[in-house]
Amino acid sequence: MELSWFKKGTIYQIYPRSFNDSNNDGIGDLRGIIEKLDYLKSLHVDILWLSPIFSSPNDDNGYDISDYCSIMPEFGSMDDFEELLEQTHQRGMRLVLDLVANHCSDEHRWFEEAKKSKDNPYRDYFHWRKPGNDGEPPNNWKSFFGGSAWEFDEASGEYYLHLFTRKQPDLNWENPKVRQEIYEAMRFWLDKGVDGFRMDVIPLISKREGYPDAPNVGFRKVIEDVYANGPRVHEYLREMTEKVISKYDAFSLAEGVGINHHEAGLYVNHDRKELNMLYHFDILECTIVNGKFEESSVFDLVNMKRIFKRWRDAMGNKGWIANALGNHDFARMVSRFGDDKKYWKQSAKMLFMMQATQNGTLNIYQGDEIGMTNITLENVEEVKDVQSLNFYEDNLKTKRYSKEEALQMINKEGRDNARTPVQWNDEINGGFSIKAPWLKTNPNYDKINVERQEDDEDSILNFYRKLLKVRKENDVFVYGDFEELDFGNPNLYIYKKSLGDDKIMVVLNFDDTGMVFNASESISEILLNNYSDFKIDNDGKIDLEPYQGVILKIN
Ligand code: GLC
Ligand code: CA
Repeated sequence: MELSWFKKGTIYQIYPRSFNDSNNDGIGDLRGIIEKLDYLKSLHVDILWLSPIFSSPNDDNGYDISDYCSIMPEFGSMDDFEELLEQTHQRGMRLVLDLVANHCSDEHRWFEEAKKSKDNPYRDYFHWRKPGNDGEPPNNWKSFFGGSAWEFDEASGEYYLHLFTRKQPDLNWENPKVRQEIYEAMRFWLDKGVDGFRMDVIPLISKREGYPDAPNVGFRKVIEDVYANGPRVHEYLREMTEKVISKYDAFSLAEGVGINHHEAGLYVNHDRKELNMLYHFDILECTIVNGKFEESSVFDLVNMKRIFKRWRDAMGNKGWIANALGNHDFARMVSRFGDDKKYWKQSAKMLFMMQATQNGTLNIYQGDEIGMTNITLENVEEVKDVQSLNFYEDNLKTKRYSKEEALQMINKEGRDNARTPVQWNDEINGGFSIKAPWLKTNPNYDKINVERQEDDEDSILNFYRKLLKVRKENDVFVYGDFEELDFGNPNLYIYKKSLGDDKIMVVLNFDDTGMVFNASESISEILLNNYSDFKIDNDGKIDLEPYQGVILKIN
């Protein structure tokens, strides 16, 4: 097993728009992040990943970039960025940016040029096709955010491809000039000292020859077989790594959309020299059967264990992944996998114990360290996310669900859940901003906030700190061999990890009632416990409270 800083390091994802607003205009910004660097350091995290901070008309909150080498004015200036980078490094942390290279904004100069005429030199930066029969789109591809993936351009009589919103035209990676442009932009930031990139929907960059129709199967399958893992994706990634990333002390984290465990090694096995790691969607989507909002199933622990296992088996020591239970694209982890009411505190801590002891680089999302929960938006005017809004509008046409049902579905799985402002204290808007924020603050900020948890020894926040510290001091958390016990148990998740003489056992109760487990191991130390009590009798019978988790040192 190759040891490396990025394997043991913890990634903390910041969604800048919602993190901290320094100038009270309702929008988080870079100076807001600078103000909180000591806080971040105090968490014992190592790598800060910023969601996009580049110029953008914000159709998809910065994931639609109009200039790769400038800072979104709402977020601040290049000076602010340089200060942020320097101050992050001074504290011994690293800074990673979000590279959105599958598509840009339709307000990017490249697209504005491309639209001018069919022989414009930028035309071939994008995917253009003639209409199909009767002027229909060239094929049946659906956008990730609803509707056709093709938009008609009146002026030229052709369609362009956008796998996301209409304002996010896909870049044509077949064109070597496009690749050069992206590499240039990467070098621009790496030369400033940035430590690497999280790569947005990177498995989608190579399109299939002739844009074949998608078969009539679930959307996840379409993503895997038709959109992602295209014929040249590995060639492009190797080129990018060879020409750019490998020239710096930088690392890469791929968003593994459409990558299953069979395919993953091709991207992240060490000997492939492509990417350092990826986070996959199997856990993140384990409660979603098909579409984001539809057919959501309930949480099933055995299914989750199965997913962790198949990824463990597939990666072995050959490759590496990151592990996340949430990010800016999913509802809050405690609301999805735990209990955000009665056992809020216990379940938030227990879930983190699981996450921090699984294989892979630990990837946490802002606000989870205080157990932020889903929000209930009261009406559609409060919804800000383009994916949710498209779903809502679509439903107005199809009338599949009532308006109330549609809003309920948005409240359950929608991305705004994770994007509400970070709750710093119990002052107006949770201390995020004096002005009404761009997206409503969760009204529970009076109870769930950083300040309150700072002073509470028993808080989720202080538990995160404790756990991250213990994890840093014990390599077995990161590199240990995994051994699972009682796999079929639907309530308890139990496993051991061992590295040389160091052994730990993790016992997690996912149920809201008490549970019993018989341990045959000899326990030498309780490393972490989310309750004050640990009940074990002389025969090794452990009595677990609802959502109790313990991490034990064993002989
Ligand atoms: C990724 C991002 C998501 C964005 C999409 C399009 O999935 O995480 O927020 O909407 O790509 O860029
Ligand atoms: Ca601001």
